[in-house]
Amino acid sequence: MTGPKLKTTIAILGCGDVGSTLAYTLILQPICSEVILVDLKKELLEAQVRDLSDATYRGGSGVKVRAGTHKDAGQADIVVITAGAKQKTGESRLSLLSRNLHILESIFSSMSPISPHTILLLVANPVDILTHFARRLSGLPESQVLGTGTSLDSARLRGILAKKAEVAPNSIDAYVLGEHGDSQFIAWSSATIGTTPLALAMPEQLTPEFKVEISAHTRGAAGAIIAAKGCTSYGIGNIAASICKYILFDSRSVRPLSFYQPSLGCCLSMPAVVGRRGIIKAMPIQLDDEEKAQLESCAKGLKAVIQGAEKELYA
Ligand code: 2OP
Repeated sequence: MTGPKLKTTIAILGCGDVGSTLAYTLILQPICSEVILVDLKKELLEAQVRDLSDATYRGGSGVKVRAGTHKDAGQADIVVITAGAKQKTGESRLSLLSRNLHILESIFSSMSPISPHTILLLVANPVDILTHFARRLSGLPESQVLGTGTSLDSARLRGILAKKAEVAPNSIDAYVLGEHGDSQFIAWSSATIGTTPLALAMPEQLTPEFKVEISAHTRGAAGAIIAAKGCTSYGIGNIAASICKYILFDSRSVRPLSFYQPSLGCCLSMPAVVGRRGIIKAMPIQLDDEEKAQLESCAKGLKAVIQGAEKELYA
């Protein structure tokens, strides 16, 4: 991957735990030349900009950090939306929908008009539903509206399986797909260690009970962290920064990302090639019958939530 071309700007809406961690991650790596932070809490915004700027003076990547408005953000190369209520212990991501959908609506009315070249990266939850509505609210082409989705869950799965198989995490290729939430599922049938299918690499361990245990561990990872520290930030901050890098460097990396699935009628995570224009193309994946059923069920659940939200918002 070559470095970013010319002056590149990433705007981060929301400078709480996730937004500020993402900003700090971007400062540490030469991914972009400017980070704009936007937040309605002006005191917090100014403090975060000052604190983050102190991390740029040592002569590191030379990233400039500044406070901006939603209008400024609408002209950025990438807009990352982290603004919104966060889950409390025991709360599901879907329970945030009403509050965060209203926040999303006000964001887009403040940002408009958005540059036709801007890529939108949704992080706030419920990320799949918010990605779905961001397509409509932004008016941008579908390929330019994506969510972090199950990229974070897949990273967690990679770590769990690496420990079990006693191999390096980057040798694990396994995806969590579907909803970044309770109806997510693991595509066991295509998971490999190196080029070795999991069924061949760890035949004794790969029992139905093992799959249930690993799925529960992956799905419950966020809840355990939130119960202890009130939020998650480093995992999602790193994932969002890596997706920004894939976009600005036009890396054409394949990652599980939340984007619109025409055959399913909603946004959820499936493998995609990501580059400078956002979602370059979906990457087909072979699913077994059980995984196909899980995907259908996940889409059905998400569409029901979308229909409910549309009634509430647009009835
Ligand atoms: C996470 O999975 C809370 O969605 C956030 O860390």
